[in-house]
Amino acid sequence: MAFWEPRSAALTIRRILKVNHAGEFGAIRIYNAQLALARHLYPDIVPALTEMRDDEIEHCRLFVEAMPARGARPCRVMAFWSLGGYVLGFVTALLGRNMIWVCTEAVEATVHRHLEDQIAFLRDRDRPLHDLIGSIQAQELAHLQHAVDHQPRQGLLRAATLPLIGLVTESLIWLSTWGDTGSMRREIAR
Ligand SMILES: [Fe+2]
Ligand SMILES: [Fe+2]
Repeated sequence: MAFWEPRSAALTIRRILKVNHAGEFGAIRIYNAQLALARHLYPDIVPALTEMRDDEIEHCRLFVEAMPARGARPCRVMAFWSLGGYVLGFVTALLGRNMIWVCTEAVEATVHRHLEDQIAFLRDRDRPLHDLIGSIQAQELAHLQHAVDHQPRQGLLRAATLPLIGLVTESLIWLSTWGDTGSMRREIAR
């Protein structure tokens, strides 16, 4: 394919699967780190965190399952997601239970924007994947809502960290598509 030709839909679909699978893996790592600390520091939120982590494990499995038929393969920089997710989860859990929910809110809000683009792109191109992402999106929105509803304090720390965590999430998405999120976005918008 010459570089000036538009990307094929199949390539964009492979990239969508790759980045979504990596994102779910990162989310599992965030929750695992937060659970490791919450078991000692905030045992009351362990059931909610466990439920969300289990949702992410299921999402990850579903994306792996959707890959072979579309010729997609997992991201080559999974180590970034693994380490980035764990560090983000660990640091936010250290900063308190409120910050755990700030982290969930920031990550889910960023993910939601990407899922919206993907769903619009897939509507007439890959209906089964469109429906799969639609059902996953509904669960991610429930995570987002839970996080918003469980922040009694919405002070300065939240105002400072919410955009920062969103930026970290965007950077990981950018990295795992080798900076291709921009062109993917344009292709999705076409
Ligand atoms: Fe998920
Ligand atoms: Fe989620």
